[in-house]
Amino acid sequence: MEDIAQSREISVELKGKILGLMFFEPSTRTRISFETAMKRLNGRCIGFTSSGSSSVSKGESIADTAKMFEGYSDALVIRHELEGVSKFISDIVDVPVINAGDGAGQHPTQTLLDLYTIKNEIGSIDNLKIALIGDLKFGRTVHSLSNALSLFNNVKIYMVSPPELKMPQEILHDLNMTNVEYVETDNIEDVIDDVDVLYVTRIQKERFLDINDYLKIKGAYIVNKKMLEGKDVIVMHPLPRIDEIDGDVDDTKYNKYFKQAANAVPVRMAILKTLIKNNPK
Ligand code: NCD
Repeated sequence: MEDIAQSREISVELKGKILGLMFFEPSTRTRISFETAMKRLNGRCIGFTSSGSSSVSKGESIADTAKMFEGYSDALVIRHELEGVSKFISDIVDVPVINAGDGAGQHPTQTLLDLYTIKNEIGSIDNLKIALIGDLKFGRTVHSLSNALSLFNNVKIYMVSPPELKMPQEILHDLNMTNVEYVETDNIEDVIDDVDVLYVTRIQKERFLDINDYLKIKGAYIVNKKMLEGKDVIVMHPLPRIDEIDGDVDDTKYNKYFKQAANAVPVRMAILKTLIKNNPK
């Protein structure tokens, strides 16, 4: 946790700078860790935490809201339930824009902290064998992570999901184009002996059009201590967890998900420093 301790040291890096947090969709870790990162760098934050608490609820367009924030902030962090909204905003404002999750699309800063955690815990990302488990269709963290893993050497991805929640074709297409080896299965037991990392995800209830479809697959995968015993594996999760990792894993050496969440602060400090300090505005 040396990096986290370092991140606690007060720094004057972004003194006087303001980060605009535009969270149209709920968030705990991402929003709070961006806020913590900005404050650790001596900067400040403004923003809203739901559409209901912004003028979007009065009918203001996202474009107008973003234009207001551009005038108030040195960078924007956007979370929205629709894919492509961060990209849209980045096209119409001149300050740096960070995608903090766009619907079932992407979540790139989560990926940076995931890679940082893997590197710290395993030593290398090259030659990694990783199982992505759960909702690979709607889970944006696994989309960004798969894309990023293709930048490393000799990575093998095991995609474990119910047939209804398989990895989208466009992500598989990207992996094919970059020659990343992957296999798809619906059974954790098929892969657990082969992998270095179990990256578990929540079934994204809020993205189902019919709640009955969610209820049919809810609880499809539960990782517990007994399954892990004797295995050389770590367990990660972007959180929040519902029931997909049993509480009995929390006090074991396999649990890296809380450390992963804490790693968000130094990683997001680095992102903010890079984008704001180096931006001439
Ligand atoms: C994830 C997200 O919002 O995509 N959480 C996070 O940012 N740490 C995962 C999720 O909501 O399941």
